[in-house]
Amino acid sequence: MTLGVAIIGCGDMGRKHAAAWMAQDGAQVRTVCDIDAGRAAAMAKLTGAVAYHDWREAVAADGIDAVSVCIPACDHPVVSVASTDLGRHVLCEKAMALTLDAADTMIAAAARNDVQLLVCHQYRGLSRFATMKREIEAGRIGWPIYMRFLEMREVRPKLAMHERGQNGGPLHDMTGHLFDLARYFTGAEALSVQAHGTVFGQGKPRLAPVADFGIDTAEILVRFEGGHVLSIGLNWGLPEHTPGYGRDLVHGPLGLMTSDDPERPDRFVGDISATAGVRIRDQNGAEWIAAEADEDGPHNCVRELVRAIRTGEASQFDGREGRAALRLIRATLESIETGAQVTLR
Ligand SMILES: NC(=O)c1ccc[n+]([C@@H]2O[C@H](COP(=O)([O-])OP(=O)(O)OC[C@H]3O[C@@H](n4cnc5c(N)ncnc54)[C@H](O)[C@@H]3O)[C@@H](O)[C@H]2O)c1
Repeated sequence: MTLGVAIIGCGDMGRKHAAAWMAQDGAQVRTVCDIDAGRAAAMAKLTGAVAYHDWREAVAADGIDAVSVCIPACDHPVVSVASTDLGRHVLCEKAMALTLDAADTMIAAAARNDVQLLVCHQYRGLSRFATMKREIEAGRIGWPIYMRFLEMREVRPKLAMHERGQNGGPLHDMTGHLFDLARYFTGAEALSVQAHGTVFGQGKPRLAPVADFGIDTAEILVRFEGGHVLSIGLNWGLPEHTPGYGRDLVHGPLGLMTSDDPERPDRFVGDISATAGVRIRDQNGAEWIAAEADEDGPHNCVRELVRAIRTGEASQFDGREGRAALRLIRATLESIETGAQVTLR
């Protein structure tokens, strides 16, 4: 049976979801929706779907089995819950929600309707991170591991990313990917979070319309079961046109791995690239493992949703995984607000 798909939100991620669904055998994008009529019309033309202005109608249309939710995080819960209550499976963009209560409501709604709810933490599928995971599991750098992500950018072009009430602010928007990667690499849960953070974006001309700034800059330290440690340095509040700087480092008692891109040293941590790879340094010297060509966007999440629907099996992108990343986001923000370490277990 062909799966009928609705895509809610026709911006950057909506377009990537559409491309992923169009590449998927046994699926057809049937409805698309955006409050911006031009975007909805362009996506309808691209996919052959019917354009809607109201997401409720796009989701409730005949022949819809699955819904891609690609709008700001504040509205992920209402669209996801309404979709699952109509018996639709959901692939929700990250962050799955702004609060843990909202995430729990989404998970409960999917469970009571016996449908799949997946959250699109697609960095797990990027070739360089899959390589790191493989090498960690092969024991190449030993155990436990220490992970260090640095992600420094000029203020973001989308105001929703900085607006606390929409995507929660850059910390909320970005770090979920890194928390998810840390859980993916270690298979472990976090024990505690200590963070310090601030807003550097305030006063930058591009962000003049932002009413309520979310935290955009932080140093975060997370302790995991098994002795693993994650450290994140984030600054998405640099002045417009500042070249970016990103680094990923994972090390252990036997060696270290970095994910490098010689052609683009300033690349964004989640960018796809044909020149990226993983450099491993250990007592035998240095080895370079070139990354394979990455798909642009959520192809593996779409494939996983289809597999989960067909088999009824849980996916690595299950809503509970999205919640675990969100729990770390919320603990980080709590630690920044209170100045105290947040204990999770
Ligand atoms: N997985 C990733 O790596 C990744 C990367 C970027 C963004 N995201 C997430 O994807 C989501 C969307 O981000 P984006 O970058 O595509 O933003 P975007 O601004 O490019 O697109 C969002 C679209 O949603 C539309 N929209 C907003 N509210 C709507 C509503 N109620 N009904 C219908 N349409 C509505 C907007 O008009 C806009 O066209 C966010 O949650 C963001 O955090 C995920």
